[in-house]
Amino acid sequence: MKTRYPVNPDFRNDALCDNDQYLKMYQQSIDNNEDFWREQGKRLDWFKPYSEVKDVSFSRDDLHIRWYADGELNVCHNCVDRHLPDKADQTAIIWEGDDPASAKHISYAQLHEEVCRFANTLKKLGVEKGDRVTLYMPMIPEAAYAMLACARIGAIHSVVFGGFSPDALGDRIINCKSKLVITADRGVRGNKAIPLKANVDKATEKPGVKDYLQSVLVIKTSDQVIDWQEHDHWYHELSSSVSADCPAEPMNAEDPLFILYTSGSTGQPKGVLHTSGGYLVYASMTHEYVFDIHADDVYWCTADVGWITGHSYVVYGPLANGATTLMFEGVPNYPDHSRFWQICDKHQVNVCYTAPTAIRALMKEGDAPVHSTSRSSLRVLGSVGEPINPEAWKWYYEVVGDERCPIVDTWWQTETGGIMITPLPGATDLKPGSATRPFFGIKPALLDNDGHELTGEGAGNLVITDSWPGQMRTVFGDHERFYQTYFSAFDDVYTTGDGARRDEDGYYWITGRTDDVLNVSGHRMGTAEVESALVAHEAVAEAAVVGYPHDIKGQGIYAYVTLVNGFSESNDLLAELTQWVRKEIGPIATPDKIQWAPGLPKTRSGKIMRRILRKIAANEHDHLGDTSTLAEPEVVTHLINNRLNS
Ligand code: PRX
Repeated sequence: MKTRYPVNPDFRNDALCDNDQYLKMYQQSIDNNEDFWREQGKRLDWFKPYSEVKDVSFSRDDLHIRWYADGELNVCHNCVDRHLPDKADQTAIIWEGDDPASAKHISYAQLHEEVCRFANTLKKLGVEKGDRVTLYMPMIPEAAYAMLACARIGAIHSVVFGGFSPDALGDRIINCKSKLVITADRGVRGNKAIPLKANVDKATEKPGVKDYLQSVLVIKTSDQVIDWQEHDHWYHELSSSVSADCPAEPMNAEDPLFILYTSGSTGQPKGVLHTSGGYLVYASMTHEYVFDIHADDVYWCTADVGWITGHSYVVYGPLANGATTLMFEGVPNYPDHSRFWQICDKHQVNVCYTAPTAIRALMKEGDAPVHSTSRSSLRVLGSVGEPINPEAWKWYYEVVGDERCPIVDTWWQTETGGIMITPLPGATDLKPGSATRPFFGIKPALLDNDGHELTGEGAGNLVITDSWPGQMRTVFGDHERFYQTYFSAFDDVYTTGDGARRDEDGYYWITGRTDDVLNVSGHRMGTAEVESALVAHEAVAEAAVVGYPHDIKGQGIYAYVTLVNGFSESNDLLAELTQWVRKEIGPIATPDKIQWAPGLPKTRSGKIMRRILRKIAANEHDHLGDTSTLAEPEVVTHLINNRLNS
């Protein structure tokens, strides 16, 4: 297989940045980091200009990250109002419904009106600056209006992916003490209804939720009859009597913009907190350069707004840049497997940014569904969320992009706010499977387990040695956890939790998580979360969850379960446990395999040896490594003999 794809000269001629420019600008961004970001801050409108740029310490006693800290701005103003003089009639959002017959174009002028109305409706419900608002929404324009409306009045949004269970939603409402939930009567994906409002009803029954939650605002999308509670309000009713004029609240650059919960290696998901100025500077700059955005481009990121990719690259980055962003409600295989490419033709999409799991699932269906479309508008293809295997890369490049479109394999995290390691399409020769080089201002390094920095080629723990404006500021309500999770393993650097290899050209190859975080279809999932869901079932005494290689999902969920005495192994119980986890966390956490384990391999001090469980799940039990510390070696033999085949 070809391993290097040089930049296409035709592409480079029209690109924002070629290789010489990249090298020069990158060097400047490192040598004069503050000057560089001082200049980039000007891409936004500031109500009060900043004089300070960067104020950062990664040390335990004084862990703080501040950018543009004396400046004032409003994120919504930057994403909407400031485009009105030039772009009032330009489409801001193209909405493509699940049903191929439904689509909408929302201009910047319309967006402004909708967002102002939404913001006044929030005010009418008593939402004030600094309040937390939880969104549990389908991919409809109102999800973007709601996010922007929160930003406009200074409320902090917490978007919870619509695939999470009522229980998971309830936990998140409690954790950030939300006084309002915004939802819809239902969502639709692949012609199947998702009972969002009914899930909110269940979540509100969870003990503790009503200590904070005062109201639920419901968007009406259908004629479906739904249960109604005293605290419920229809959006269309409340908003009909509010004004469409709502001034944007001046916010400090370091005022929180949103909380987004993400999984870690231990405990419950943590609320990643992003603030206003630095986040938007970084989302805007990465969006422009990584996707080589030109005026009049139609840009499409397929992510749901429930994930960071949806925040930074469906809503905030593109709208800050005055681009046209496409929002898709549905799924890649409905009505058929050519849906993505039909959407590209229908809306003349220039940039398409999606996840390897979607690419692999579509690749499995063959080339015909792709070839039935033209895709001639496409110029740049993007990938995010997990490593893209070279076979999928090649298919994306050759079949989808007709060998014309560079692929930007973008590595980043919820915590980083925006893209960190990525090719720039007019600058970087591509190598399938490599996220290539750091973005401007980003200083990656590889450390061995003792914290020694590796130079040149090698593999180790991927860390970032200096701050960047999009970096998360804290774990909401738990600054100590912020320190422990990201700054305690190695001194004075941000620890990503990923491993990486650097090759002879200085390109980075992400090798996956070094902790107990799984990546299932690009969705982050803590093994501890799935384990605690399993042990919450009365039949389960102990559970250990690991990832294993999965053709489509990247990683699958493999659970080893020990039953409480008196319960017996059966297919019915297996099905029940699978359903149980779906109910506790949501469908994305559904175990692919559950193996009965009369015992789990443990050290003599009682620690589960996950390394061994991972090897068994991956069918690599010929190389178990050191097993001398095992308390009961026969447990391993039993697990190997009863391993579940794919
Ligand atoms: O392991 C890395 C993987 O996804 C993790 C971050 O997940 P999340 O916070 O949900 O954000 C996903 C979207 C930004 C990372 O720690 N990951 C993300 N992008 C890539 C990747 N792994 C390899 N290559 C990528 N391009």
